[in-house]
Amino acid sequence: MPRFRTNIAAMKPYNPPLEGRSANDYLLLDFNEMTKETSPAVKQALHDFVESKRVQVYPEYGNLNKAIASYAGCKAEEILVTNGSDQGIDTVMRAFVEKGDTVIIPSPSFAMEYQSASLQGAEIQKPRYAGENLDFPTKEVLSLLEQKPRLLVLCNPNNPTGGAIVEGELRQLLQKAKEHDVAVLHDEAYFEFSGITAKNFVKEFDNLFLTRTLSKQFGLASTRAGYVISQESNIQELLKIRGPYDVNMFARVAIEAALADLPYFQEYIREVMEEARPALEEFFQSNGVKFYPSLANFLLIAPAHPENIVEQLKRQGILVRPREDPLGTIRVSVGTLQDTERFIKAYSQILGV
Ligand SMILES: Cc1ncc(COP(=O)(O)O)c(C=O)c1O
Repeated sequence: MPRFRTNIAAMKPYNPPLEGRSANDYLLLDFNEMTKETSPAVKQALHDFVESKRVQVYPEYGNLNKAIASYAGCKAEEILVTNGSDQGIDTVMRAFVEKGDTVIIPSPSFAMEYQSASLQGAEIQKPRYAGENLDFPTKEVLSLLEQKPRLLVLCNPNNPTGGAIVEGELRQLLQKAKEHDVAVLHDEAYFEFSGITAKNFVKEFDNLFLTRTLSKQFGLASTRAGYVISQESNIQELLKIRGPYDVNMFARVAIEAALADLPYFQEYIREVMEEARPALEEFFQSNGVKFYPSLANFLLIAPAHPENIVEQLKRQGILVRPREDPLGTIRVSVGTLQDTERFIKAYSQILGV
């Protein structure tokens, strides 16, 4: 075997359990996707693109940055469109982290953050989400910042725990990071569900990078569509890292169509957050199943026999995501009210209630 970089040889690929999952066979509550199809306007736009004799031509992006900027409320020059927010995370990581640098990633959190940091050969510090509600470890992170790590990753709200950094503490964290010359990656994958964003800090903090996705609330996971928001001069640097065609044309077409059809997606978010999630919380509460407070479209639960629950749900055609950290938990995505009612019915059968 050729001599791979030592940190790569020591890594494992990130293999999420994708095998055999199909929306035709299962209710998919395992990847926090939309549980219904993306909007008809997006499907039509993709169809039209396929018929437009442009599939054989390299991508060109036209006003894509402008469309995203107008949606996000910033300048087009403050946006870097990425191949999913995974690429946003990786681009920021590659921009700042060299072999042996320290990166703080509070744990548990989203796997690709660790994967990208490991790829750079980082030393990863993992202060723990802790306590009854798995709270963000603010004190510990503030103290670790004094050791001048290269990058701090804040997943807010956090996947898989669901909770957010306490308001007011985010400013404190950003300020301390700035004082110690630490770049901050603020992962906003669940922004549309939670309403939580650090966008208002971008002007003030030149060390701040927000990553966002269109996978979840716009139903575009298959197209790989995301973006980074940061100060214009930072985006100029990131453009040296991202390839000129990394974002494919299916993503461009889908993003533009989705952003032109916002009411469809806003209604979905409303249904998830105002009807489905409360119904699910109420179900868990009244049946004594522990769950952690969440601001996103998923709940982390700690049932008595997690493996049994996962298996029995699967037998009833429902996939959820078992977690090894925290051990014995399961992450359940929240979708439409109808899908949530199906989940509740299946879970009730398992509990015999
Ligand atoms: C916190 C977080 N960040 C980023 C992503 C990746 O999103 P994308 O599909 O845009 O790569 C996910 C997806 O699960 C996530 O949960």
